[in-house]
Amino acid sequence: MTIQTLTIIKPDDWHLHLRDGDALSAVIGDTARQFARAVVMPNLKPPVTTVRLALEYQARIELAMKKAGISPDAFTPLMTLYLTDNTSPAEIIHAKETGAIVGVKLYPAGATTNSDAGATDLLGKCSQVLEAMQRVGMPLLVHGEVTDPNVDVFDREALFIDRVMIPLRKAFPELRVVFEHLTTKEGVDYVRDAQGPVAATITAQHLLYNRNAIFQGGVRPHWYCLPILKREVHRVALIEAATSDSPRFFLGTDSAPHAKGLKEHACGCAGCYTALHAMELYATAFDQIGKMDRLEAFASKRGPDFYGLPRNTTTVTLLRTPYLVPQEIPYGDQTLVPLAAGETLNWKLS
Ligand code: DOR
Ligand code: ZN
Repeated sequence: MTIQTLTIIKPDDWHLHLRDGDALSAVIGDTARQFARAVVMPNLKPPVTTVRLALEYQARIELAMKKAGISPDAFTPLMTLYLTDNTSPAEIIHAKETGAIVGVKLYPAGATTNSDAGATDLLGKCSQVLEAMQRVGMPLLVHGEVTDPNVDVFDREALFIDRVMIPLRKAFPELRVVFEHLTTKEGVDYVRDAQGPVAATITAQHLLYNRNAIFQGGVRPHWYCLPILKREVHRVALIEAATSDSPRFFLGTDSAPHAKGLKEHACGCAGCYTALHAMELYATAFDQIGKMDRLEAFASKRGPDFYGLPRNTTTVTLLRTPYLVPQEIPYGDQTLVPLAAGETLNWKLS
């Protein structure tokens, strides 16, 4: 019997871009409708590199929530710091003490949107910071791609494992590490089998699509994100991991809003907007392989368990009913094109 409804603990998004200003105001409602908490990425311009900047950003998010009529009880932004060559161990200790900052994000310099200030030599310049993070239990959230322009864009994650992840975790075996937006079979194998406190987030687009989606009938910029969609063998490895018994794989949308004009552009921005319909997309991916019963663990249990936070106490219900993804939605004085715009999904959050 195919299931028609699914009620699960309210999920959290362990990897989200909320932006700032008008953009923040435009997107906050989408995430707060779907999720109880979200880990908010620090790649603003300028990046969120200090506790003071993170707390000021948190206050702007809370103000945007207030203006949108979202109760502080309904949604909690979990803040992050952006790791640079100049981050100090004292800043890590201060971050931990606030209780508001749940992780420090590594953007290898040049890897993606607003990553220019990122760390250039992790084990060299950041070793004292990493030591402090390991000591106080502050997770390192990793954009796991090498930035070497000579490395093929489809190989950058797999090579990152050998060049950065393995040496990093050898030097700091007790450091809590989240391999963000995992996209490859190599990444799945590494995270599943590694020793120590390592986990990974997985996006909806990497569960639903392989790289053909970017080129189907012409170049489709709304399917372009980083790390880029990979071959089918990798998509299959990801959906197997997400629906497996391993506690190490959990939900992180990487929803990354860019105005329509900057996506449909000669040099289009990387990022898929999925905050609008994240649970509909994940449900579609799980349902495709008959694993709806595994969605709650992935979306609502393993993330808080890894971060040492309580699971949520409210629930949400998904209904098997056709849902037409809108062609575009307002984004300040521009618009946003959600992933799979104009397509019909089989699930809807009630
Ligand atoms: O596609 C992406 N968009 N990948 C990232 O790593 C950053 C994000 C963004 O901020 O736009
Ligand atoms: Zn991201």
